[in-house]
Amino acid sequence: MRPADPGRLSGLRAELYDSGARQDAYERSVINLIASDNAVPGWRRHTLPYSGDMIQEGIVGRRPFAGAALHNELERIAAEVACEVFGVDHAILQPHSCSQANQAVYHGLLRPGDRVLALRFRAGGHLTHGMRHNFSGRTYAFDFYGVGADGRIDYDEALRAAKEFRPRLVVCGSSSYPWIYDVAALRALCDEVGAYLHLDLSHEAGLIAGGAFPCDLGPADVVTMSLDKTLRGPHGAAVLCRADLAGRMDAAVHPGTQSSFPVRRLTDAAAALLESQTAGFAEYARRSVALTRALGERLLAFDARAVVGGGSDKHYLLLDTERVFGRDGRAAEELLEDLGLLTNRQWLPHDRSSGFDDAGGLRLGTAWLSSCGYDTADADALADLLVRALSGDDRDDCAAAFAELVTRDRPGDVRGSTDFDWTAADGGSEA
Ligand SMILES: Cc1ncc(COP(=O)(O)O)c(C=O)c1O
Repeated sequence: MRPADPGRLSGLRAELYDSGARQDAYERSVINLIASDNAVPGWRRHTLPYSGDMIQEGIVGRRPFAGAALHNELERIAAEVACEVFGVDHAILQPHSCSQANQAVYHGLLRPGDRVLALRFRAGGHLTHGMRHNFSGRTYAFDFYGVGADGRIDYDEALRAAKEFRPRLVVCGSSSYPWIYDVAALRALCDEVGAYLHLDLSHEAGLIAGGAFPCDLGPADVVTMSLDKTLRGPHGAAVLCRADLAGRMDAAVHPGTQSSFPVRRLTDAAAALLESQTAGFAEYARRSVALTRALGERLLAFDARAVVGGGSDKHYLLLDTERVFGRDGRAAEELLEDLGLLTNRQWLPHDRSSGFDDAGGLRLGTAWLSSCGYDTADADALADLLVRALSGDDRDDCAAAFAELVTRDRPGDVRGSTDFDWTAADGGSEA
């Protein structure tokens, strides 16, 4: 290896700080409709329970590194908060991401080659639900269920597939399926074929915690969820389960699929979970769903084909740019990005082609909008702007409409908060 060149390093340092500062400024100048993104409350940058940098590994009471007494205490408290919020017996907050949490679930419940039934990728499933390029599709034998013409999961098809395929595990969860899940139907299906039920609530966790998305975790054997996304916590994930699977899931996380984790992830996550039980968070979650609805209604008023399935129960909807505007998802994403509207191209259930660049539409998320205090009048204005931009209206006119939306001060914007109102969602005070 060649020795480092101090002159080059000094140049790279300047580039790094310059580039980082421009990214900070850029993020303040855009409207972020990427459904997995969110804006983190300002108070969390100042008043978190623990601000150290230690890592730890293993489970409570069984650690390979010294200095673990308080780590045990912190992990026990954080896990208890998660159990309390989601009404489960056992919680592990160590996974680095929801992909890794899913990996741990498969590792804990399956052997390589075992059969798994999951929602088809184009119907909303995730890479870790059996995509052939992903570890999941390479390690386990996946089959899929899908959605009907109305865009809703076809539970009868899922049952037929399960009876024929005899999976050991059924995965329910999605990245781009905008509707409530019928968890009871999937439980019945699992009982019929003797399979475990895994709910992957990566996207919905914050909405569920905030009471804005009904989803019964009780029938599931195992649940995974992102701590970031709608939950607005640190990047990472949780595995939740019943008491009888606790030992297996602990071992599946460590030593099964990961070693160390930053202790701060546990404490940051616990702070976010506690916040999720406050009135302010409930309002954020409710508003995110209301914003999706408002955006959807306005887009549907423009063209009845605009919103795939005709609506959404969540913090995102799917916009069919191909059919309505004659632009594929990639072209639409790039056009909007040029204005400062960040979205992501999205495969739609009816898309025929298989290339990522051929996605037929966009996924439009509202969690960031809600955290930044946008209201339903803003959602209407945003829908109008999307329609104008995607219809090819004059760019300067669209840019002016965009500037109007992005610059306004909004009282509900959490980014500016320096402390937090711990008033509970039921009106009680935790302070
Ligand atoms: C349903 C679902 N599961 C798992 C994941 C993986 O999460 P991560 O990207 O944090 O690994 C995602 C990511 O968006 C997801 O949508």
